[in-house]
Amino acid sequence: MYKPVAEPFRIKMVEPIKMISREEREKALIEAGYNPFALKAEYVYIDLLTDSGTGAMSDYQWSGMMLGDESYAGSRNYYNLQESVRDLFDYPYFVPVHQGRGAEKVLFSNLIKKKGQYVLGNMHFDTTMAHIELNGGRPLNFVTDKAFNTTEPYDWKGNFDLGKLEDFIKTHDRNDIAFIIITITCNSCGGQPVSMENIKSVSAIAKKYGIRLFIDAARYAENAYFIKRREKGYQNKSIAEIVKEMFSYVEGFTMSAKKDAIVNMGGLIGIKEDEDLFTAVKTTLIPYEGFVSYGGLSGRDMEALARGLREGVDEAYLHYRISQVEYLGSRLMEGGVPIQFPTGGHAVFVDAKKMLPHIPYYQFPAQVLTNALYIESGIRAVEIGSFLLGRDGETGEQLESPLELMRLTIPRRVYTNSHMDYIADSLISLKDKVNQLKGLEFDYEPKVLRHFTAKLRPIK
Ligand code: F0G
Repeated sequence: MYKPVAEPFRIKMVEPIKMISREEREKALIEAGYNPFALKAEYVYIDLLTDSGTGAMSDYQWSGMMLGDESYAGSRNYYNLQESVRDLFDYPYFVPVHQGRGAEKVLFSNLIKKKGQYVLGNMHFDTTMAHIELNGGRPLNFVTDKAFNTTEPYDWKGNFDLGKLEDFIKTHDRNDIAFIIITITCNSCGGQPVSMENIKSVSAIAKKYGIRLFIDAARYAENAYFIKRREKGYQNKSIAEIVKEMFSYVEGFTMSAKKDAIVNMGGLIGIKEDEDLFTAVKTTLIPYEGFVSYGGLSGRDMEALARGLREGVDEAYLHYRISQVEYLGSRLMEGGVPIQFPTGGHAVFVDAKKMLPHIPYYQFPAQVLTNALYIESGIRAVEIGSFLLGRDGETGEQLESPLELMRLTIPRRVYTNSHMDYIADSLISLKDKVNQLKGLEFDYEPKVLRHFTAKLRPIK
């Protein structure tokens, strides 16, 4: 049996959580339109909706909050942040932004030059897709087919299919492609890592055809840890060295700092060399996010981020972090719950297509499972499947996601390993009751990013 690594911290402040009754949960879910995004957080016992902004900051980060310099321009915390970015990524140019999607909005509008240009990724996250589309671009995914076979183990399910990528580039006009972006780890296919070899190869392809290349860096430290663990030649390198190497192959990044940099709010754009792009980014940043030395963050937030960036690459922390998620995955597998294997970095993704084969994609099996888990045990997970994917922009038809997943997203340094046992026990006992569950249909369906605010009802 897999034994999780003990927590490399002790707890000096606690936040009570409580479980409301089953009847109260049923009522709350009906009021939420069968959409857990609309639940009051107080009605949730263990919240696995996301690992974004939900991490616990350290005493070192909290003490930095007291040193916030709230000057409009040139705050000392901005310079501390600059030092962290330089040390970690070796990039001279960066701007803070309020969160990852702020970075996408500001950077992409400077990269997509004409309507209909393609943006090639392994698998774009939903806000990334939205910002590509809002700028007139067309997002396309080139992740390996191995990502879609949840039971077949493969170390690098976040990798690009290099053949497919190059074939696409060869058969399209160079001017129809705006840029390539590598999402590490690849959230949408299960928090799966991208190998250094793959990053290097994508970089070589990008250079060969003169296409710009960026990283979506939300979970860059977890990706680096997987490289250290799994990729030949990296066992004796430090996480910091691996991070530097990954970022040396691309020309810039967008980052939601709410994940691996362990802050509750914040983000970054980093640029390696291109001064013109940096100037353009600063110009766009000011009206949307704020002046270049704060970009939507207060001084104290920038201090927490400057410190969090460094804590996020600490190897003892990452060892515990990845192990906790792996432990939950291994308990679920032992209990016969089908998951994306190997377990991802930030979450366990449960294969709802396998667990609820009687519910078709257009009745959202992973959403049905998510709701049942909440009713049974007060745990809030999130659907990553056809409900999130939405409709074809042109025909209006419901798209079929290649995977119907329920994501059990683990916040950083927040829940203990015994919480993992509670989650595993709950889902294992739910497994035998799911064949009675019914599919869902819309009561209300918004046009953009519908999963956040849609209302649903069970089909009679
Ligand atoms: N890129 C990736 C890979 C992400 O996972 C996210 C957010 C973003 C960009 C956008 O960042 O939220 O700071 O604006 N992912 C969260 C999640 C919301 O739950 O996976 P943001």
